[in-house]
Amino acid sequence: MKHLFLLKQYLSYRLKAKTAHGIHSPFVYDFIETVLKDQRTFYAFDEIKSLREELLQDATLINVEDLGAGSLHGSVKQRSIIDIAKNAGRNEKFGKLLFRIVEKYQCKNMLELGTSLGIGTSYIASAAKNGQVITIEGSNEIADKAAETFETLSLNNIRQLKGNFDDVLSPILQQNPPFDLIMIDGNHREEATIKYFNEIMPFIKDDTLLIFDDIHWSRGMHKAWQTIHLDQRVRLSIDLFFFGLIFYRKDFKEKQHFTLKY
Ligand SMILES: C[S@@+](CC[C@H](N)C(=O)[O-])C[C@H]1O[C@@H](n2cnc3c(N)ncnc32)[C@H](O)[C@@H]1O
Repeated sequence: MKHLFLLKQYLSYRLKAKTAHGIHSPFVYDFIETVLKDQRTFYAFDEIKSLREELLQDATLINVEDLGAGSLHGSVKQRSIIDIAKNAGRNEKFGKLLFRIVEKYQCKNMLELGTSLGIGTSYIASAAKNGQVITIEGSNEIADKAAETFETLSLNNIRQLKGNFDDVLSPILQQNPPFDLIMIDGNHREEATIKYFNEIMPFIKDDTLLIFDDIHWSRGMHKAWQTIHLDQRVRLSIDLFFFGLIFYRKDFKEKQHFTLKY
């Protein structure tokens, strides 16, 4: 049933998705040409790719506290690293896109909700070696495994926090200057996603970029994305099917939404 929903959403996305042709917003045109179409390769890409491949071979079992969507709160089960990397690890295409976004918009102060094994975090952190990423993970042993990832890749600009977003997000927002980038990639439920969005709102600055992952993954996430991108405070939203990008810049006078081919 869930697969059918996703398939329908994907077909509808493909019908709506635009290329740079006919895009009148200079900002979005530039985003397509210099970020989406950028084919450059960076040293970090190969390193992260081989690490991901290693994780996909790692049959070690770890205890996982399941805090996210579709789970019983507080339940613990054993999962292999292979299974976690397969199901929750950032894929290469969108990992590289994250890297390019960070590089393009010169993000320095970044926050990620949902570390998992640290693949997505590694793309973000590698793109801004003189910046810092705070990443939050509620599952203890997964976070420990991510720490190994960061050590292997010699990434020392990552600060890991263990805890439930429901407890950790608010103090982090209060204790830090407004973030340049916030990646929301965990607890993919309608209510929780809208709650995090509303919690983040008072702490953004003009050029904060929010990225929501898996915006069409379920009916609930699809509804959350509609609520978020239609919010009057949002000036520009971009739907890339898996990622939803939210910009606030006040210099975008007219509220605009784009579904872009990627
Ligand atoms: C999809 S994975 C993150 C993938 C990762 N960002 C990447 O790009 O490779 C989501 C992670 O969020 C964590 N998570 C889900 N709900 C959470 C919550 N309420 N508090 C803390 N962590 C949570 C899960 O344990 C899981 O590891």
